[in-house]
Amino acid sequence: MIIAGENIVYVDNASTTQKPQCVINAIVDHYKGSNANVHRAGYELANRATLAYATARSRVAELVNSDVNEIVFTRGCTESINLLSRSIKLKPGDEVVVSMMEHHANIVPWQEACKRSGATLKFIPLNGYRLDLEAAKKIITKKTKIVSVVHISNVLGVINDVKQLVDLARNVGAYSIIDAAQSVPHMNVDVKDLGCDFLTFSSHKMCGPTGIGALYGKLHVLETLDPFQYGGDMIDTVTCQDSTWNRVPHKFEAGTPAIEAAVGFGVAAQYVKERYDPSRENGLIKHLYGQIEAMINLVGELDSSILSFTVDNVNMYDLATYLGLKGVCVRVGHHCAMPLCESLGVKAVLRVSVYMNNTIEEMDHVADCIREGVKKLC
Ligand SMILES: Cc1ncc(COP(=O)(O)O)c(C=O)c1O
Repeated sequence: MIIAGENIVYVDNASTTQKPQCVINAIVDHYKGSNANVHRAGYELANRATLAYATARSRVAELVNSDVNEIVFTRGCTESINLLSRSIKLKPGDEVVVSMMEHHANIVPWQEACKRSGATLKFIPLNGYRLDLEAAKKIITKKTKIVSVVHISNVLGVINDVKQLVDLARNVGAYSIIDAAQSVPHMNVDVKDLGCDFLTFSSHKMCGPTGIGALYGKLHVLETLDPFQYGGDMIDTVTCQDSTWNRVPHKFEAGTPAIEAAVGFGVAAQYVKERYDPSRENGLIKHLYGQIEAMINLVGELDSSILSFTVDNVNMYDLATYLGLKGVCVRVGHHCAMPLCESLGVKAVLRVSVYMNNTIEEMDHVADCIREGVKKLC
């Protein structure tokens, strides 16, 4: 892949993805021909902007098989979870259940919500690199108000059986939340099939722009929640002392939204739906693993498009820097999952994460560079 005139192998897709021309064009075209604020005027340009924003919502809804009004636009997966952690009301004695393999985005908002309310945060432990579902059955009880778990771990590459966790949550009357930041970009995720109450994801991890993401929520559940932020667009009526709320999803979208980002997100949703191929991506990862298996310690499982590892006697930051100098873009560190890394006893993990535009030749090149780097550094 040529980026800024340089030949680069970009394998940091779990962090963010490169953008296809159709997404870039959609944003530029929007600015050139439809730029106005949404929902607030009768003139043609504003009608076009409003229509573009609504179309983007339908495209994102289609990607996860939801109804259009069940998609709330947020700033990303992190803000979607923050919204829920503020809008779902907890009380002392309530329990929130997450897992040991969560991204900080699905831990810290709940820590804060528990501190505010007197609720308790509980963790489903791991069995090897997978969730211990037998332990989950004991941890999820009548006290549980929320079960919030990641679909695909951004560190371990493990695909979790979230449907089973949704069922466990439903059986005790708890809300189920799926952090789908790493699954929606890569595979068919159908909210009706999963049966979850909420599902969160980000545009930038699926070929779309940064600064926008989505919260899917069952309409009747979203209708029961309080707004997250207050101001324009989210209201129905305002008097000097009180206000009433707009209908869902607008109730959760205070202020001028990221209109052009939504347009790009919508086009990206269509783009990935037509092209994603989880088995091809997994094949690339397995091909790479086959070439470096003897020299690395795999951290996780080869379920998805992610390969994480450490190497004995090699500093992973040094190896990532070496790969960077060779034009191979990987990520290293705790990957915003410090409790997980701590529990596994690893400080820094190197992660290769592929997407639809990566090739087998690139995997060969990455393997060669890893072999060279390890030889030089150990
Ligand atoms: C599993 C997971 N959840 C949540 C997030 C947060 O996403 P964002 O930074 O787009 O809000 C990430 C980002 O890496 C992630 O991998």
